[in-house]
Amino acid sequence: FHVDMDASETDKGTYPFYMLKEIDEQPNVMRRLAQVYLSETGEPVISDKLLNSMKQADRIYIVGAGTSYHAGLVGKRLFENLTQTPTEVHISSEFAYEQPILSKKPFFIFLSQSGETADSREVLVNVNAGGHESLTITNVQNSTLSREATYTLLLHAGPEIAVASTKAYTAQIAIEAILAKALGEADNQIVAQRFDVRHQLGLVATGIQAIVDEKKKLEDLAKSSFLKTPNAFYIGRGIDWSVSLEAALKLKEISYVQAEGFASGELKHGTIALIEKGTPVIGLITQEKTAGLTRSNLQETMARGAHIITIVSESLAKPGDDIILPDVDELMSPLLSVVPTQLIAYYTSLNKGLDVDRPRNLAKSVTVE
Ligand code: AGP
Repeated sequence: FHVDMDASETDKGTYPFYMLKEIDEQPNVMRRLAQVYLSETGEPVISDKLLNSMKQADRIYIVGAGTSYHAGLVGKRLFENLTQTPTEVHISSEFAYEQPILSKKPFFIFLSQSGETADSREVLVNVNAGGHESLTITNVQNSTLSREATYTLLLHAGPEIAVASTKAYTAQIAIEAILAKALGEADNQIVAQRFDVRHQLGLVATGIQAIVDEKKKLEDLAKSSFLKTPNAFYIGRGIDWSVSLEAALKLKEISYVQAEGFASGELKHGTIALIEKGTPVIGLITQEKTAGLTRSNLQETMARGAHIITIVSESLAKPGDDIILPDVDELMSPLLSVVPTQLIAYYTSLNKGLDVDRPRNLAKSVTVE
């Protein structure tokens, strides 16, 4: 399969910043991945060699940095739910020098938009020296991490130019979902057989489109709640917690708001002391079994003066919720819930007059350890 890159992919067009263009491209990236990695009947098209290697593994180790690490946290939930394979996720700069005890038959997945992140490269050197098999999921063909891993799957997201990663995150998660479906099916896992990844990616593409079509609402929210605040908290449980880390990173890196992603149940064990009158606390609520708990954690912060904002899946929504997400399979919810948080970060940065695409102190690709 060959995907052509045309000039419009590296051109900002009428967009003021690449980041907004890249956020808006996400529905198309989801559709493209379905085209590239699924057959006409919706079955994953993943090489038998890769699947056989993964089938033999007793544990999956996902390695990445920054946003790619966050996409790995979601991947863990996908692999464990759909394949029953225990999965660990590691920050590459930590793994490189404090290697965890490995299982008998480990399989490594490297997540990297650029394929050049030095910390991740260092881990792969060690993995290769240990004789282990690996897969790199990257946006850049022939990148170092791609060349040095046993297998590669490309993100097909088109060039990502803004320093803040957006479409690469959602593309990484979509590929993890397809791969987990393929592996689970190859292993006769009923949950995987029932997981209609093509249908889900279709829902995700339409869902993201609906969110980006309402971006004005998110700009208003950014202006009213994030421009003046020195800090903010994203909270959630399980997969929502994983997304809260990415949401907070976006706000930090381009808007310079001190933000934290937090497991909502942990707040009362210390961090709630930071809540003051008007502190924004954004709750991510997409999982039925924890929705009520996260809501009560939000109430606890509200009682201490927090300004609470909710991002909620439609089927779990209540009157007064702020951002409603179209429903998808709970495992796919990060692909939708992250989008309003990308837009909140974008509009906060934009309305502060900052250089959205080139935040201070940061490079697109970190090639030093
Ligand atoms: C994302 O918004 C960041 N700029 C950064 O965390 C990035 O995800 C990280 O440096 C990893 O890059 P990679 O995916 O190219 O390896």
